[in-house]
Amino acid sequence: MVQKIGHRGAKGYIPENTLESFQKALDLGVDGIELDVHVCASGELVVFHDFTVDRVTNGSGEVDKLTLSELKTLKIAGELQIPTLAEVFDLINRKCWINVELKGHDTAQPTCELIEKYVTKKGWTYEDFIVSSFQKDELEKTRAHNPKIRLATLSQASVEQALEWADELSAYAIHPHFSLLTDDNIHEAKKKGYKINVWTVNHYEDIQRLEAHIIDGIISDFPDRL
Ligand code: G3P
Ligand code: CA
Repeated sequence: MVQKIGHRGAKGYIPENTLESFQKALDLGVDGIELDVHVCASGELVVFHDFTVDRVTNGSGEVDKLTLSELKTLKIAGELQIPTLAEVFDLINRKCWINVELKGHDTAQPTCELIEKYVTKKGWTYEDFIVSSFQKDELEKTRAHNPKIRLATLSQASVEQALEWADELSAYAIHPHFSLLTDDNIHEAKKKGYKINVWTVNHYEDIQRLEAHIIDGIISDFPDRL
């Protein structure tokens, strides 16, 4: 069975990367959720996609120049807040696995430390997490910090590059854009033992076509469409 993974929560239904969106994804019965992280000016990991708050909130400015208390005053769709990564972990509470995408700079170390805290102090396991990134250096830092953390290489350009990085990093999975898949590169990835999770697939015809392949997961804004 192809696993259903909620993109930024359930972005198609509730504003992205909010606790409410992650709760919606749980309500829709996802196997996993995907989210994006940055480090804000006061040092906490916050769950947010863009490098500036302008598109999604009623404020303006760069995420890494604003403190957590400043970010918490901002409103998303009039009423929702930017959550910290720890708040999302606590909400999910092992009801599904979590794909943390290292979006911002210098996110590897604090993400590793938070995952380690949940594994060593709260009874979670490393199987509760996948850490992915388009940034090879952040993945390298994660691998160097803790070899037990499962890595996925993101790519919107080529599956070959995702595979090359995955080999170098001893990754667990590749996360290519769904349009890059071919029978040949799926076969190659599977031969090498990688899981394949693709993004962001929202249309029924694409989902049906992909479900016929031997891929492992589909990241969707509408995870109930799987
Ligand atoms: O992790 C998959 C996907 O979310 C990567 O693209 O721009 O949605 O973060 P983006
Ligand atoms: Ca993402």
